[in-house]
Amino acid sequence: RPRYTGLIERYRDRLPVNDDTRLISLGEGNTPLIKLNHITKELGKDVDIYVKYEGLNPTGSFKDRGMTMAVTKAVEEGSKAIICASTGNTSAAAAAYAARAGIAAFVLIPDGKIAQGKLAQAMMHGATVIQIKGNFDQGMQLVKEVADHAPVTIVNSINPYRLQGQKTAAFEIVEELGRAPDYHCLPVGNAGNITAHWIGYCEYSCDSGDHVTDACAYCGGKCKYAGGAIVGNRPKMIGYQAAGSAPFMRGHMVDDPETVATAIRIGHPQSWDKAWQVKEESGGWFDECSDEEILAAQKLLAEKEGVFCEPASATSLAGALRDVKSGKIPEGSTIVCTLTGHGLKDPDTAIKQSTSAVVTVNAELDAVREAILNNMV
Ligand code: F0G
Repeated sequence: RPRYTGLIERYRDRLPVNDDTRLISLGEGNTPLIKLNHITKELGKDVDIYVKYEGLNPTGSFKDRGMTMAVTKAVEEGSKAIICASTGNTSAAAAAYAARAGIAAFVLIPDGKIAQGKLAQAMMHGATVIQIKGNFDQGMQLVKEVADHAPVTIVNSINPYRLQGQKTAAFEIVEELGRAPDYHCLPVGNAGNITAHWIGYCEYSCDSGDHVTDACAYCGGKCKYAGGAIVGNRPKMIGYQAAGSAPFMRGHMVDDPETVATAIRIGHPQSWDKAWQVKEESGGWFDECSDEEILAAQKLLAEKEGVFCEPASATSLAGALRDVKSGKIPEGSTIVCTLTGHGLKDPDTAIKQSTSAVVTVNAELDAVREAILNNMV
C-alpha cells in the first residue's frame, strides 16, 4: 500500500492542483471515525453515533485540511507571506504550514482569549503573533483591510481553497460508512466548515463523475450537479453554536460574543449566507448549547469513550445528544459528529472542570496501596 502523504495527494482529482503543483503537506486528513459505545447505550435510543476525530490532524484541528490547500495555492501563486485572524486553531495551522513552505505567517489573535496550546503552536512555528485588544470579528475586519495594503495572502476560510481542502472530510466519511450519514452535526463559528462539508457531500453524491477543481454549484456551477443529478444520499446538516455566540439563532450578527468555547467565540460569521443555504438545501437546522452543556459533553466523551476534544468541538455532541433524546433526530439514524479540535489545545479549561481525583501521598508502598484501594470503583 502506498505511503499516506496527505489529503491533496489522496483526492488529487477532486482538488484544484495539477502535476506541477508543489504540495505543502504534513500528512493531514485520514482521521479516525470512532463509533460511540457507552454513550449511545446509556441514551437508550436506537441510533449509531460516530465522532470524526479531527483533533488527530497534524496541528490538532480540522484547519489543517484547509491550510494544506490554501498554503499550497499561495505558494503556487508566488506569495511570500500569509495572514489570518484566529481564535487559535487557524493561527496554529497557518504557522505550521507556513514553516513547512518556508514563507512568513502573521496571525491576529484576540488578546487573552485563546487557549494556551494554540498560542504555543503559533509561537513555536515562528509566526509573528499580533495580539489585538479586541475579539475575533474585529481581527477579521482588520485582516481584510490590511491585505489590500500589504503583500500577504489571507488564509481564513474566506479563502476559497480552504473550503476545498476541508470538503475532503465528507469524502472520508462516505467512503468509510459506504454512504453518507443521515445527520451530520458540527460546531459553528464562521460556518466555513459546515459549508465545506456540504460541498463535499454534494460533490460525492453527484453522478457527473466530473468533480475537478471549480466544479459544483458553489464554485461556478460548471458541474452537472448544478443541473441536479444527485444519486447518493446526503445528510441533514446541523450546526450547533455556543449560546453566548449564536448569531444563527438570533438571526443577526452578535457584537459581544462570549463562551467558554473560545474557538467559536464569533459573532460575525464570514460564511453567513452560505450556511443558511446549507441548512435549506440539506433540510437541517441550527441550535445552540449552553457552556454547561458543552463542558458536560466534553467530559462525558473523555470519561466514557476515551476521546479528548476541546470544548468547542464537544458542542456537536452536546447538541446531537439533546436532539436524539427529544426525538428530533429519530431512532434508526446514523449520526456523525465532527470533533474539530484536540483536547490538549486547552488544558486550562480541562483541568478547571475536572473532578478526577488527584491524590498526593508519601513515596511509600503502603500509602500508594491505600490510595488504590480507596479509589477502586
Ligand atoms: N471548532 C474549532 C475547534 C474551531 O477552531 C473552529 C473555528 C470551529 C469549530 C468553527 O468552525 O468557523 O468553520 O464554523 N476556529 C477558527 C479559528 C475561527 O480561528 O481557529 P467554522
